[in-house]
Amino acid sequence: MTLREDLTAIKDQGLSDISLTNDLKKLNEIRVNLLGKKGPITSALRGIRDLPVEQRPEVGSYANEIRDALSTAIENKKQVLEDAALNEQLANEKIDVTLPADHTLQGQPHVIQQIIDQVVDLFLGMGYQILNGPEIEEDHYNFEMMNLPKDHPARDMQDTFYLSDDILMRTQTSPMQARTLETHNFEEGPLKMISPGVVYRRDTDDPTHSHQFHQIEGLVIDKNITMTDLKGTLLTMTHEIFGDKFDIRLRPSYFPFTEPSVEVDVTCFNCMGKGCDVCKHTGWIEVLGAGMVHPNVLNMAGVDPEVYGGFAFGIGPDRFAMLKYGVSDIRDFYLDDIRFLNQFSKRG
Ligand code: PHE
Repeated sequence: MTLREDLTAIKDQGLSDISLTNDLKKLNEIRVNLLGKKGPITSALRGIRDLPVEQRPEVGSYANEIRDALSTAIENKKQVLEDAALNEQLANEKIDVTLPADHTLQGQPHVIQQIIDQVVDLFLGMGYQILNGPEIEEDHYNFEMMNLPKDHPARDMQDTFYLSDDILMRTQTSPMQARTLETHNFEEGPLKMISPGVVYRRDTDDPTHSHQFHQIEGLVIDKNITMTDLKGTLLTMTHEIFGDKFDIRLRPSYFPFTEPSVEVDVTCFNCMGKGCDVCKHTGWIEVLGAGMVHPNVLNMAGVDPEVYGGFAFGIGPDRFAMLKYGVSDIRDFYLDDIRFLNQFSKRG
């Protein structure tokens, strides 16, 4: 075979390899093999030296022509493969901006938590501390320090789950009164605290009670605190939660840890005071218990009742939610039925 025929064969083989490859990496290998220093064209060019002088220019220019043809073919193929790769990537990453967006389900606090947050925010703004207490509580704090000794008959109203003789699921947030009274340093200022949390009582088969529910304890102790302060505070809270049209009234009541004790009623949400079935024709609905902290409670916690005194109250956010939204069965709040809970959407 002549050198010229060799070169033609190299060209044909090269063009065929180039056109058959569909892979950029392989194409590069072809380029290196064909056109590189150790490739057939380089060695063919070297062979020109052995040709008779008059043939050299012709074969030399033929060799250059072939090298150019091959490198152009490689460049073109490279362009084609790169375009194809880009098009494939674009197709894969295509975003149809006209598609309707997926709806992201947005959660919200539980309706009872919404009420707790509202109350907590209000009292935070009035300078109260917000405290959390243990749900597994000592009999000592839940009852004894709240002026309910072991044989006290009022314990019957708050039967609960006992973990041992002395440890129980707290029946009220009131033990947080004793716990904070014990630790508060009155030289640093008055004691003003709110303590929201879950409490437990023996379940009775009654739609207005649940074995687990919420309370928010409030306690204010300083010098010269009066019952007027208590009433003003509760009225402020009522306006905040229910609205300015709602009024409150205090009725004498009994709690072992307050003296005097009151039951607090709020204007009936259903008839706005006119009298209806919901409020048993009184125009009022009972919402919370409160009173002036009993001297025994202060004494037991090491606070001198001759110097300091104040008020305490216990709010039931579950009851607030029932009244505010006209829900008649408290147990609905605990069933986790999203259809029920979504009715109280903050997003409106
Ligand atoms: N702890 C009382 C209850 O659970 C409510 C209360 C709190 C009453 C504080 C007076 C003062 O019924």
